[in-house]
Amino acid sequence: MPRSLTWNHDTIELIDQTKLPQEIDTLSIRTVEDLVAAIKRLSVRGAPALGVAGAYGVAMAARLHDPKTNESAFEGAVTTLRQARPTAVNLALMVDRVAPIARQDPAAALAEAHVIAEEELAASVAMGDLGAALSLELAGDRPLRIMTICNTGSLATVERGTALAVIQTLHERDRLAEALPMETRPLLQGGRLTTWELQQMGAPHRLIVDSAAPFLLARGAADVVLIGADRVAANGDTANKIGSFALALGSRHADVPFIVVAPESTIDMSTATGDDIEIEDRGPDEVTSIRGVPVAPTGTPALNPAFDVTPVSLITALVTETRVVRYHQGQSL
Ligand code: MRU
Repeated sequence: MPRSLTWNHDTIELIDQTKLPQEIDTLSIRTVEDLVAAIKRLSVRGAPALGVAGAYGVAMAARLHDPKTNESAFEGAVTTLRQARPTAVNLALMVDRVAPIARQDPAAALAEAHVIAEEELAASVAMGDLGAALSLELAGDRPLRIMTICNTGSLATVERGTALAVIQTLHERDRLAEALPMETRPLLQGGRLTTWELQQMGAPHRLIVDSAAPFLLARGAADVVLIGADRVAANGDTANKIGSFALALGSRHADVPFIVVAPESTIDMSTATGDDIEIEDRGPDEVTSIRGVPVAPTGTPALNPAFDVTPVSLITALVTETRVVRYHQGQSL
């Protein structure tokens, strides 16, 4: 599986996720403005990948505008980058981690961005291990059927992923009966990206439409539900792709474990509860059309929250790279 993004001789190279699965196209980003545009149109997406993109973006800003001699250009670039998308905490967190280093020593910013990329990769491996062990503990040591939403694989991180890293680990250990990715309207990250990654890893899977998820859970079609996260609040409430809350309600109805898999970098202890998380609204066009083809009368108004918040009361456990927080047993962050 190729890395979602890499640094290569002063450019950020990233797989343009808007073109998948029809085309595997690599973008060479040379300016912070182009990186911000790529983030906004979801050429690069997924909370950990956004964090790494933000880190490399600050390194790029420091090379293009020396913070010591061209402070206003550097600070302007950092602010636009930090605000490119509001819900995934990783973006602002990693921009805020690299920017002070760049201000002190512009050349050191790139080394820190590389460290962040390697940390995310190591976290994916560890989450895969811990999440696979927890899934087998809760659902039984046998090949499992796993339902999941959005894309939480290599593309959303650096490699392997969060929830999809758990699915990959189960598959590598002959403990995956099948994955059931939801297509994830409006932008179809599940249908376009997760299926592509599952195919690459040779993992058995069947794609489902979003509205089939609660019914299939009620009919016993999955043993465990695994999702990623864009921001975990201090009380455990979790923002993730729109549809996650409905999936959690369906899981509770069917008594299926609902597990969030996210690195420590996605936990935001400065946000008290899910009510305090800003939810990005991406405007009507993504709802009234699918990949440029209108599916509603011209001018139809639409609401388009890109994320929702699942209350901690519906979440069985959180798996990070260092711990399992068993909310269902009264544990907290
Ligand atoms: O709008 P997106 O595609 O960036 O949303 C991504 C998600 O909601 C993912 O589930 C989340 O970032 C976790 S990715 C490992």
